Amino acid sequence: MNILVTGGAGYIGSHACVALLEAGHDVVIADNLSNSRRETIDKIREITKKDIIFYEIDVKDTNKVEQLFNNHNFDGIIHFAGFKAVGESVNKPLEYYYNNIVSTIVLSKACIKYKVNKFIFSSSATVYGDNEVPFVETMDLMPATNPYGQTKAMSEKILMDAAKAHPDFSVSILRYFNPVGAHESGLIGEFPKGIPNNLMPYITQVAKGKLNKLQVFGNDYPTIDGTGVRDYIHVMDLAEGHLVALEKLRPGVHVYNLGTGQGTSVLQLLNTFMEVNDIDIAYEIVARRPGDIPISYADVSKAKKELAWTAKRGLKEMVRDAWNFEKNL
Ligand code: NAD
Ligand code: UFG
Repeated sequence: MNILVTGGAGYIGSHACVALLEAGHDVVIADNLSNSRRETIDKIREITKKDIIFYEIDVKDTNKVEQLFNNHNFDGIIHFAGFKAVGESVNKPLEYYYNNIVSTIVLSKACIKYKVNKFIFSSSATVYGDNEVPFVETMDLMPATNPYGQTKAMSEKILMDAAKAHPDFSVSILRYFNPVGAHESGLIGEFPKGIPNNLMPYITQVAKGKLNKLQVFGNDYPTIDGTGVRDYIHVMDLAEGHLVALEKLRPGVHVYNLGTGQGTSVLQLLNTFMEVNDIDIAYEIVARRPGDIPISYADVSKAKKELAWTAKRGLKEMVRDAWNFEKNL
């Protein structure tokens, strides 16, 4: 298949491009590099020894998107492009609504016009809010406490309504849990701008000496050791989840959790990182971070049953590959 990957220069998109190319698909990347680097495109070429076509465009730009669909015969699209920082979305709500919602509308309109009938969308476990764990796809969504989460819930709804009105338009909505790690080559990985908000890049930057110490946000949650529990998933498992979701996409709208189904606490992740990589990480316990939920992990039975997909890589591979990427930067 010939696949348009928006946001393909970013963290998850770049790994998905590797998975697609290695499975024999052709890839066209559209990314405005607002949160990524041009070199990543060359790294994808280096890993896969395949060529990729890259357009530095904003996917909100209807004219540019139309040109792209005129130039290529796409079989499908994976739409990763978007802003993703929860905290920033509270301070810049309009930027988040504009970028994340308008891009989804422009791209789905182009797909319908040009009869590109496979649409894979990057959603997030954040749409479950503070439901009971494990989170199941059939649960009612909780209104997100931040604009970022709202953009994901709204984009899901927009795509569902579009598919209802255009029965040939098939959509797979993938709700990611906590992607971490990097490609085993160490050539591509997570490269946040500024001080990381997320746990794993914060840990790797402390390990590297870029940051002094990790702050653990709260140890009084009702969890195994009081620290927050999340479902960490290796980014290459997540990437492979996109490949099967695309290859097995049937008519209609399908929602899948992509996680491991395992909950891991902050201290468990930190200790695994220290053990596997043989590095000491300084940390302190501080107050809870506003807006955090105690526990999040997925019910992964639907993806297993319908897509025959499960995550293969464990915590050890996640911490090893995250460090392997950071230390080579
Ligand atoms: P990322 O920031 O590394 O990648 C997003 C890419 O999209 C970047 O390369 C950026 O330059 C590009 N982009 C943003 N707006 C654009 C626009 N209007 N036009 C063209 N390009 C644009 O983020 P990521 O972690 O790879 O996330 C990819 C997707 O997955 C996002 O939609 C994100 O919301 C979603 N997601 C991420 C996580 C996570 O923890 N990383 C969890 C759940 C969902
Ligand atoms: N944490 C710390 N210290 C830090 C950073 C995080 O203790 O410096 C803790 C958090 O309190 C939480 C856990 O580590 O308990 C994970 O936090 P992250 O910020 O890495 O991830 P979140 O689960 O808060 O959010 C992530 C993405 C969201 C996405 C969500 C669900 O940032 O965009 O996963 O997919 F919506």
